[in-house]
Amino acid sequence: MSSSDRELATCDARGAAGDAAPHAAPLLRTATATAGGKAILLGEHAVVHGQPALALGLARHISIRVQPRDDEVRAVPSEDPRVAAAVDLAADSLGIPASAGFAVEIGGTLPVAVGLGSSAALSVALTRALAASAGQLLSIERLDEVAFGLEKIFHGTPSGVDSATAARGGVTWFEVGPPRRCEPVRLERSLTFVVASTGTRHDTSRTVGSLRERAAAHPEVYSPVLAAIGSLARSARVSLERGDWPKLGRLMSMNHELLRALGVSTTELDDLVARAIDAGAFGAKLTGGGGGGAALVLAGDDPTRVLERLRSAGYECFVDRIEATTGGGGT
Ligand code: PMV
Repeated sequence: MSSSDRELATCDARGAAGDAAPHAAPLLRTATATAGGKAILLGEHAVVHGQPALALGLARHISIRVQPRDDEVRAVPSEDPRVAAAVDLAADSLGIPASAGFAVEIGGTLPVAVGLGSSAALSVALTRALAASAGQLLSIERLDEVAFGLEKIFHGTPSGVDSATAARGGVTWFEVGPPRRCEPVRLERSLTFVVASTGTRHDTSRTVGSLRERAAAHPEVYSPVLAAIGSLARSARVSLERGDWPKLGRLMSMNHELLRALGVSTTELDDLVARAIDAGAFGAKLTGGGGGGAALVLAGDDPTRVLERLRSAGYECFVDRIEATTGGGGT
């Protein structure tokens, strides 16, 4: 998906709303849109507490198709009431009247609830598809703003790094602020990485909430750990920009140890990380909310050995890559 300043997702019908007299043309048309997931390279959890994070846009995505209906029904193919609430909020945010019914179809290739930003990808894809259906052009900032509102329905108090990355792709430097910072990071070299799943789903709002309670009860212990993660993210940005993968890998592995100290890892995630390092990876860490879910492995340009080792231990893996030329997120 383009990350130019203004964007319009695929529309099956042409002609902007407003071409004809008001109400003479249908308000909505069939439209489809996608949004990629994300893997946090460094800084998850600490980002909620004001530290910076680096996130990678994934090719794996959620896709949404919006089809107008003749009635006033908004048909949503999910038993999760949060999805229906997100559809309503997206439609309301875009000024789509309640009289304009539509059906939503959800598809895609992104695993759900494993720390890869599926709810943010859903939020961004839904916002894009509804905007395209209504013939609206959204700036990236407005897209992110609306999608962030939707993501709060799923996660309560997210930092916003997921929706910021899903809206932009590439590599994103994110700080919750104020002031909120959301910057594309340029890559000196293409970055290949492995995402490996423990196969267990996780609940981000639960891990974020319980860490928040522990941090509030013992700030003298937790604040320095969170600040240390922020320092790792700052160093990692320099390594990333220089293409220094051995150093970046070491910083990722240190980040994993600090996440363990914060109590958001699991024995499976620790096992996965240890196997990846043992197979020769530059570094590895849990990614996203933890408490299950996925790990991110920096395995170099040829991840074959790491993939073999992790797959033979039963972990599902996929490889993704961010090209040097598009590492700036295309903005
Ligand atoms: O588990 P995910 O993919 O939703 O990632 C959550 C990242 C956190 O830093 C733990 C929470 C947040 O809102 O930034």
